[in-house]
Amino acid sequence: MTVLVTGGAGYIGSHTVVELLNAGYEVVIVDDLSNAKADVIDRIQTITGKSPAFHPINCADKGGLCNVFRSYNINAVIHFAGFKAVGESVKKPLEYYRNNLDSTLTLLEVMEAFDCHKLVFSSSATVYGPNNPHPYREEMPAIQSSSPYGWTKVMIERILTDYCTAHPEFSAILLRYFNPIGAHKSGLLGDDPNGIPNNLMPYIGRVAAGQLEKLTIFGGDYETPDGTCQRDYLHVVDLAIGHLKALEYAQNNSGAEAINLGTGNGISVLELVTAFEKVNNMKLPYEIGPRRDGDLPAFWADATKAKELLGWEATHTVEDMCKSSWEFAKKSKES
Ligand code: UFG
Repeated sequence: MTVLVTGGAGYIGSHTVVELLNAGYEVVIVDDLSNAKADVIDRIQTITGKSPAFHPINCADKGGLCNVFRSYNINAVIHFAGFKAVGESVKKPLEYYRNNLDSTLTLLEVMEAFDCHKLVFSSSATVYGPNNPHPYREEMPAIQSSSPYGWTKVMIERILTDYCTAHPEFSAILLRYFNPIGAHKSGLLGDDPNGIPNNLMPYIGRVAAGQLEKLTIFGGDYETPDGTCQRDYLHVVDLAIGHLKALEYAQNNSGAEAINLGTGNGISVLELVTAFEKVNNMKLPYEIGPRRDGDLPAFWADATKAKELLGWEATHTVEDMCKSSWEFAKKSKES
């Protein structure tokens, strides 16, 4: 079976490609490398001993995408490609709407033209918006967000749901990720954003490696047990495996299905920092600073549906996440 992975050179995409290749799938990657490095493809090959086909094009390039579909017999698509920086999206809303919506619409048109009916989409817990109580469950209203980035996820979920209504044979699995961290055990793949990281774990990695001076924890006065925000951090390899389970489910079902991928546990920023220090035997310089605009105090997943429908649950511990993140940050500094 051949799977097209859009955004397959990115953080979650590359880990998913590794799991797909290890499970015996043929993989075709489409990635314009706007937020990924070309050597990720070589690293995937080093890890798996297999080389996925790679096309460095943007998903909104209809002609290019048609050529890809013409060249391979693609049975299913996992769609990661999209801009994903929350803060940047507030400053550049048009770029986010244009890129994320265009690429999805183009992909759907091309899938339709080539009779491909199975899609797994990279959605986000951000679609639950600021008003739902946690833990978040899939049947809660998921029709709001707090950034243009988040709104693109809400809108794409809507588009895919409407598309499924019009095409009863189509299956779209909307995977709502919580906070993926961690890295591949080889130390060759991980979260390595360009510039100064916005997300917590890559920032911690750069501080630990001495590339940034100290971590600022955004807010210490939230109504949480230790005053810092709580999130549901899950290991990126668990998340990658969730995509394979979703793919299997999509093969045997039709319609749009939203599914949370999280551990079901919330931990605080301070707890994560302490776990990182302990497991890696180091002190991490940090200070408590002001709150960051748009951050919610706490949210985590109800992960029951993923277990019931997909037979998936997270297996890695917070210690695994902190250890592998540090191994990757160390190696990235050396290379
Ligand atoms: N944080 C810090 N210091 C930092 C970076 C982050 O204290 O330097 C804190 C944040 O305030 C937050 C927690 O660490 O409490 C996690 O922040 P991240 O930026 O790593 O992740 P978010 O929870 O803000 O963002 C995630 C996903 C987005 C998604 C968003 C809302 O990365 O894709 O959840 O669901 F949109």
